[in-house]
Amino acid sequence: MTTPDPRTQSLITEFSNRFNAAPTLVAIGPGRVNLIGEHTDYNDGFVLPVAIKRDVRIVLRPRTDRRVHLYSLEYDDRYEFSLDAIRFNPDKLWVNYVQGVAWVLQELGIELRGFDGLISGNVPRAGGLSSSAALEVATAYALLAAAERRDALDGVQIARAAQRAENKFVGVNCGIMDQFISVLGQENHALLIDCRSLEYRLIPFPPQAALVIGNTKASRSLAGSAYNERRRQCEEGVAALQAVLPGIRALRDVTTAQLEQHRTLLSPTVYQRCRHVVAENERVLRTVAALEAGDLITVGKLMNASHASLRDDYEVSSAALDAMVDAMRSVAGCYGARLTGAGFGGCAVALVQPGQEQAVADAIYEQYPKAANIWPEVYVSKPGPGARLLYL
Ligand code: GLA
Repeated sequence: MTTPDPRTQSLITEFSNRFNAAPTLVAIGPGRVNLIGEHTDYNDGFVLPVAIKRDVRIVLRPRTDRRVHLYSLEYDDRYEFSLDAIRFNPDKLWVNYVQGVAWVLQELGIELRGFDGLISGNVPRAGGLSSSAALEVATAYALLAAAERRDALDGVQIARAAQRAENKFVGVNCGIMDQFISVLGQENHALLIDCRSLEYRLIPFPPQAALVIGNTKASRSLAGSAYNERRRQCEEGVAALQAVLPGIRALRDVTTAQLEQHRTLLSPTVYQRCRHVVAENERVLRTVAALEAGDLITVGKLMNASHASLRDDYEVSSAALDAMVDAMRSVAGCYGARLTGAGFGGCAVALVQPGQEQAVADAIYEQYPKAANIWPEVYVSKPGPGARLLYL
């Protein structure tokens, strides 16, 4: 029994009022911000995200039957389903993340139990900080704990199950990064993930650095279709390069020198997409080395270069994201800034000197609305812990 923090405490009270019984467990899945390594995960490459101190919580009480009764605090919406009759619901999208994870866990042969659960999150929704992955991961922990099968899967397996739910049940073709960091993040650490082998290494986050996240609040309506198009272009690049480089399986296997040597095999657009991915993988590894050497100036430059590459070669930035990044960089204490996540809107992340967070936030509130005509949101977060369970 741990003493719950005030937010959990109020969710416990809310649960008791709604379900007329005391909850026994809280499952927590955090959102994430990616420091560098964008659009590399589905190319078998490297990423360097951190978990943030914003998360989705499911306060629950296991049931003796196979029904799941949900209440979402933010949507003020209820939903019930049976673990024996899981069907995609086109009218209530939020429930599909929960149903999808239950579906995948059962597909893996894990015997689940029903539960009553109250869901609440403070990861901005559709903001590019992986609120979906946070909900999926919290759900996986909730279902496994309710069934007393928490040990059935290790962290990597939970991340893969959550990604599978999103790919196969929700129908979004995302990579592994978001679910992986939500499960395996650790306080004051970034996580270097090799998205091919799924090996990972915790990288201490330097005490002389802080993170400021700027939410453009711009619509991301293009993100889905453009994301799939980028994936196809990368595959097209690999297929063309395989004619001369038969050993390659993904852009992860291609070096800058090889890409330049064979660039005439690719259309100009596909070449640009490949150039981003190949260079971004190299930037991730250089960022890790610079972080480990405490060289934040270099980290900032690599973040800036990543943004330029996403803007010019991968073409997933937007006027709003560029304006956000410009506002962040206008403060002297900002080492570097870049869009984070899929792009087309959502958030940018800045690495700043501790003590400069407020100055960066002020600059965003001052400059961004003038440029983008939208009121932004700003979050300051140190890298937080990954998914966890609280037993009440
Ligand atoms: C989204 C996806 C991730 C990753 C990023 C881009 O967040 O969910 O898997 O591909 O975009 O780096």
